[in-house]
Amino acid sequence: MANISKGEGRDQWGSKLGFIMAAAGSAVGLGNLWKFPYVAGKNGGGAFVMVYFIMLFLVGFTLMLAELVLGRHTKLNAIGAYRKISKKWSWVGGLGIATGFMILSYYSVIGGWVIKYLITAVTGGLNVTDAAVLSEMFGSVVSSTGGSIFFHALFMVATLGIVLGGVGGGIEKASKVMMPALFVIIILLAIRGCTLPGAVEGIKYLLVPDFSKLSMGVVLSALGQVFFSLSLGMGCMITYGSYLPDKENIPQSATIIPLLDTGVALLAGLATLPAVFAFGFEPAGGPGLMFETLPAVFASMPMGMMFSTLFFVLVLFAALSSSISLLEVCVSYVVDEYGLNRKIATWGLGFGVFLVGVPSALSFGIWSEVKILFGMNFFDLFDFLTSNVMLPLGGLLLCIFVGWVWGTDKAIDEASNNGQIAFGLSGFWAFLVKFVGPVAISVVFINSLWGFIAG
Ligand code: TRP
Repeated sequence: MANISKGEGRDQWGSKLGFIMAAAGSAVGLGNLWKFPYVAGKNGGGAFVMVYFIMLFLVGFTLMLAELVLGRHTKLNAIGAYRKISKKWSWVGGLGIATGFMILSYYSVIGGWVIKYLITAVTGGLNVTDAAVLSEMFGSVVSSTGGSIFFHALFMVATLGIVLGGVGGGIEKASKVMMPALFVIIILLAIRGCTLPGAVEGIKYLLVPDFSKLSMGVVLSALGQVFFSLSLGMGCMITYGSYLPDKENIPQSATIIPLLDTGVALLAGLATLPAVFAFGFEPAGGPGLMFETLPAVFASMPMGMMFSTLFFVLVLFAALSSSISLLEVCVSYVVDEYGLNRKIATWGLGFGVFLVGVPSALSFGIWSEVKILFGMNFFDLFDFLTSNVMLPLGGLLLCIFVGWVWGTDKAIDEASNNGQIAFGLSGFWAFLVKFVGPVAISVVFINSLWGFIAG
């Protein structure tokens, strides 16, 4: 786990900044840079973003705090944390670990595309503004059978290598440089995006809600995106919280992390969507959106080649700092529960994730028309099941668990370090965990799944 120093007893984060960077590193990833812009584009732009914000305030901050507090209180992994408080609930932690395994399997496929684009950028192949050429380039990258499996494998090896080496030194030091660098470059990109001719169209599309585009499906996608982007609903933040020192101010961290995460997502949207309109792409272009539009933005900037290379290096880094958190949750469970050697567990799980990801890698090429369920191919199905079903379900159960089984009084004691630090909104937070979270998630869930199955 990132930046953990061996202290007495359980490992702990070395510093406050180290923890914030590692947790933000887990949260900020492909979910912000790649997924947010295209899911927003697909779901009507502003209407989606508005619902995203509502969900962020109702459940995002709430669950971030709940997971961190549960982790620090129990000082255990996802399953152990539930089990320590109530044996009957340990399966919820198990659900989370399974979810993480599944997410990583297709996350790594996209990570592989990033590696491939990085190589293309370095060799000067991205200096293009023609939408048709860029779309074709994307199509040929993702539909190549050997290529997509190879780069998927490469990304998994990188993830595995970092987890094996104990994330400690390297990633933590790298985080402190790379995360701020990512911020700077994404701000530059957003400025360039918003000053392109015809950019206003894109800014409006992203920020002005068109209520006719609202549907239960849009609301479910926004809810799923909040979970995915903040790394919530599968015990990732429980695990990270378990390494927090007792004096740490959790309410403050649970505010900063979602704000950073949402800031990066919005900036990515502001870099991508104006370019969609300026260069004549489709806002509902799907998973190719970032890969097709951003090269055009770079190519229209001075020193575009340098910026595009730097950008893909940082995207790769952001993706790795998220993927290691997904793998680490699975590894720490297997090591803790079955006493397996860490090395063997990491290799075994990494290889398993790779195999499960192969059908997703083929879903943009030879298996794109292989429909598994609900008319979706592997990739779409895995993405839908994890983001829109399993993570919200994990979040719903977490609300019920913290709100009613463990109890918000005990959680608030933990959050306020037994009254030593101010937690002004504790009453409001308790209300959100006990009532608003469970009701909001169930309503969205039942309505949209019903619509989905019936429709
Ligand atoms: N949040 C990461 C991203 O936006 C992905 C991720 C890492 C994740 N850990 C997670 C998603 C746990 C869900 C649950 O790219």
